[in-house]
Formats: sequence, C-alpha cells, structure tokens
Amino acid sequence: MIPESFIQELLARIDIVDVVERSLPLKKAGANYVACCPFHSEKTPSFSVSPSKQFYHCFGCGAHGSAIGFVMEYSGLGFVEAVEDLAGQIGLQVPQQRPDERRQKAVESAPLTETMARAAKHYKEQLKACPKAIDYLKGRGLTGEIAARFGLGYAPDGWQNLAAAFPDYQAKALVECGLVIEGEAGKRYDRFRDRIMFPILDARGNVIGFGGRVIGQGEPKYLNSPETPLFEKGRELYGLPQARVAIRDEDCVIVVEGYMDVVALAQHGVGNAVATLGTATTPVHVHKLLRQADRVIFCFDGDNAGRKAAARALEASLEQVADNKTVAFLFLPPEDDPDSYVRANGAEAFRKLARQAVPLTDFLMQELKDGKELATAEGRSQLVYAAKPLLGRLQAPLLRLQLVKQLAQASGFSQAEIESLCELPAVVRKAAPARSPRGTPPPLARKLLRLIVQQPTLAARLPADLIPGGHAETEALDALIAAVADGALAGEGFGMVLEHFRGTPHEGLISAILGELVEQEFDEESIEAVFADTVGCLRQAGIRSEIEALNAKNKSVGLAPEEVRRLQQLLAQKQAVKPATLA
Ligand code: UTP
Ligand code: MN
Repeated sequence: MIPESFIQELLARIDIVDVVERSLPLKKAGANYVACCPFHSEKTPSFSVSPSKQFYHCFGCGAHGSAIGFVMEYSGLGFVEAVEDLAGQIGLQVPQQRPDERRQKAVESAPLTETMARAAKHYKEQLKACPKAIDYLKGRGLTGEIAARFGLGYAPDGWQNLAAAFPDYQAKALVECGLVIEGEAGKRYDRFRDRIMFPILDARGNVIGFGGRVIGQGEPKYLNSPETPLFEKGRELYGLPQARVAIRDEDCVIVVEGYMDVVALAQHGVGNAVATLGTATTPVHVHKLLRQADRVIFCFDGDNAGRKAAARALEASLEQVADNKTVAFLFLPPEDDPDSYVRANGAEAFRKLARQAVPLTDFLMQELKDGKELATAEGRSQLVYAAKPLLGRLQAPLLRLQLVKQLAQASGFSQAEIESLCELPAVVRKAAPARSPRGTPPPLARKLLRLIVQQPTLAARLPADLIPGGHAETEALDALIAAVADGALAGEGFGMVLEHFRGTPHEGLISAILGELVEQEFDEESIEAVFADTVGCLRQAGIRSEIEALNAKNKSVGLAPEEVRRLQQLLAQKQAVKPATLA
C-alpha cells in the first residue's frame, strides 16, 4: 500500500500536461490542451487536458482521469507501477509498507535495467556489422524499418563478445540479467552467441529479456533469457509496446505463438499482434490483454500442439472475460503459422480469417463435446461432468447463462438441472429493491456533490445533518466532506479528488461526476449562488419531511405540547427559508 498522502503529494508536484505530452502531442486551446484521443480512433481532437483541474477528459468516448489514470490506461501499467513511474520522473521515492524488501528490489533492478538496455544497443550495432544476419532477416521478408521498430539485433559468435560493451565483464548484473553464464570454476561466457536477438520490452519500454534465434538450423531454435528480477515470462507479452496504437485503433489484439509471427505480421501491416513467450497463456496475460482491447483473438497453429495451447488459453480466459468482451480462437491451416500465412496470403486474407475466429463459448462447447458419445446417457453425463469445473470459473454471468442453455440442449438436462448439478449461483435474480429509503431520487445530493467537487472549501459550510441519508450520492458526499475536513486532499484538482476515491465504493460515482463537470461545470461567479440555493432547498426538504412526520403522528397518536410548538415553528420557517429561485 502506498500512503494516500504520498499520492496527493505526487499529484500536487507533477503536471498532467507534461505527463500526457510524453505520449501525445498536445495543442493549446484556450485554458486547456487538446489532442486526438488515444483511447478511441478519431480524426478531430476531442481529448482535452486541463492544467487547472489536473484532469483529462475525452468528449468523444468519455475517458477521463488523473495523471496516474492516464499512465495506467495509456501504458497498460498497474496503479503501483504508474505511481512509481511518475514518481521516478520527478525523482520522488515511493514510500512502501514493506520498505526494505521493495526498496531493495528497486535498488537491485536499476542496474539490471541499464545493463539490459546497453546489451540491446550492443546487439543492434552488431547486426549492422553482420551481413549474414542482415541477409537472414531480409530472407524472411523483413525491412530495416521493421527490424528497427522491434530493436532486432545480433549476438556474434564467440564466448565473451559482451566484454566489448561492458568493460567490467565480471559485474554481478551481467549474470543476474541472464546475459552471461558463470560456469564451473567461475569462468564466464555469453549466453547468446551467433543468434538473431529479439529484445522483449515491458510496458514502459525497458528491455527485460531477449529471445535469440539461431540463423538457419540448430538447437535450440530459440534461446530465451532466464527468469530474472526483471523478467517473469508468465506476465509478459512480446511486442506489446509496439502494438499498442494498433490495438487501440482496432480495439482488438491478436495473440500469436512466436516472435517471428509478431514481427512478420507487423511487416505486412497487421500491427496489433503480440506473443506469449514460449509459455502457456496465463490469466495475467489475459487480464493485461483485455485491459487494452475489447476483443482478444488467440491465433494458434493448426497442429495438435496448437490445439493444446488454445485449450490452455481458454482456461486462462475463463476468470478474466467479461460480458462486454470477446475472446476468440483462430486456427490456421495445419501447415501454416501466422508468419508463413501472412507472407503467402497477405494481410487482408489474415484479417478475414481473424474475423471468423471461433468465440470462446463455441470453442468451449467444441472442446467439451470432443470425444464424447452424446447419443448415450453416459456421454451426455460426461459432458456435464466435464463442464462443471470450467463453468464455475467463468465469471461473466451472461456468457455463463448462454453456455448453460447450450449444455442443457446438448445434454438433455433442464437449465435448472445444469445450474444445480454444476453448483452455479442462479444468475437471473429478481430486481433488487431500489436503495432509496425515503423514496426520493437524490438530485440535491448529486448537485451538492458536484458543487463540492468543484470547490471543496464549500464542504465546511454545508449543514451536514440536513443531508438525507441512504443514497449512493449522500454516502459519497459524506466521504467527500470528511476528506476535506481531514485535509486529505492536497488541492482542488479533479485528479486529486478522483485518486482519493480510487478503490473505494464511491469511485465510480465520483468519476462520473467529474466527467459531467468537465462537460458542464458551474461557472466561478454563479457557484456561490447555486450553493446557497441548493442549501436552501435542502433546508426546505428537511423542514418538509419533519412537518410530514409530525402531521402523521398528529393523525395517529396526537402531539405533545412541545411538538405542537415545533410544528408551528417549522411551518413559519417553511415560509421564511423558501428560496427565491427553487432549483
Ligand atoms: P516455433 O517453433 O513455432 O517457432 O516456436 P516460430 O515462431 O515459427 O519461429 P520461426 O518462424 O521458425 O523463426 C514458437 C515460439 O516458441 C518459443 C519461442 O517463443 C517461439 O517464438 N520457442 C520455440 C522457444 O522458446 N524455444 C524453442 O526452441 C522453440
Ligand atoms: Mn514460424
């Protein structure tokens, strides 16, 4: 956990304009800056960055957030990573709950990152000097431009070539990065020799590993970096930073098996492909992918191994897929991989195949039915037996219901029987009663929330006891008032407000309100009047409901003398407080 005070300090010290500008060219437009939105494709800019609010907002697709949110969305980083990234930009040290371990890791990985970057540069230079390697890449249809885009390099033959790039060949970091192997008797030598080098980048663009291919025939065909403090294969995807823009434009990411598949697809104009790194697809992979696009297509070779890999990817997807996302599976003809297919048939043919990919539910049904004698009671029972563990892991309720229906049809059980046999929670519930104890919608609370978000100092002047409870809005309002009172917000920027509520039950509502406000904010002059007006309405509502309660009591059991006096007082107040303009 990073302390909230640090997040607020960070937001107070960075400028969202600088942060966005690192990734997007911004143009000044009045008090704000604009650009074409990186989160949906468009020709005219509707993405706006406000330096005063420290907030970005797209008038086209509604994306919005703080500087931290931008880095997370744009670079696909997690919250902690994004905070670390931004803190690093301005030389702030992120305090940690377990300072020793985390700091230790940061201190240790800094020289590793630098070592990897230097090695990648070295391999690139070596490629330029090696006609044999250049010819190999040309022979596989790659241009210099694509080779440069993927930072391809060459590790020459020989045992200690890296000594040319690293004067201290004995440095600990070289072994820790997996670039150098320490043999028996402490003798060191380069891991990668006479291989084409594919650098693997993390979301920030740092080199974290390499895949090295033999030129021509040889074993192993690909030699990969070992797992290191920087490189965890089950989390990383090859080609993601290079594919990011294309993924966003197409709202689709294609996952292939090999380095060369990614590079060859890019060479032919299919830029939205990434690869797992010779490992099975993990839920972390799928999670990362679904954060980048609504549609994920796994593209596997048409052979047996490809089918097995697809089944693993299917399992990894079950807990990650949501009802508004699509995961699909594309199988190439048995003799092809994406590289050979796109080279032989071109990008359009590949895209056409991708559009015909088999959706997850269909593939799952195919896999379940495979090898079962559905004409027999045994076969139909086995179908449901096999489905049970998979259905239980599928988190998307609508997709699960679709599958239950298909299973019911294929097995002869009823839908309810499938649900109970597979121990699934019932999906279709009666609509929950509206959470509105007083039966009134909360426009006043929402308005107050908007006012106070825009000008937090107003919170101190709000008669909190008058705010009716029980609405999401009023709960968020209470939390906001408390935050202002506690001094938890470092300033008035929307970014700070949003980050204060990150991970709380109020986050969604606050985020929606900030979005509304950017599109239509109260102007500075009228804000005081609107506030007074709203508080007036609130008083009125409070008085009215107290009057109603007393009237009702009067009718049923009668009122005590002091209650009669209170009622008269309230009726008088009702006249007096009536605001001139009822909002
Ligand atoms: P493939 O054997 O399908 O190779 O391995 P490929 O991608 O078609 O490579 P080219 O076209 O012959 O150059 C797919 C992926 O599996 C991993 C690599 O990540 C490779 O890209 N792999 C394969 C290894 O890690 N080591 C190997 O020896 C082979
Ligand atoms: Mn291949």
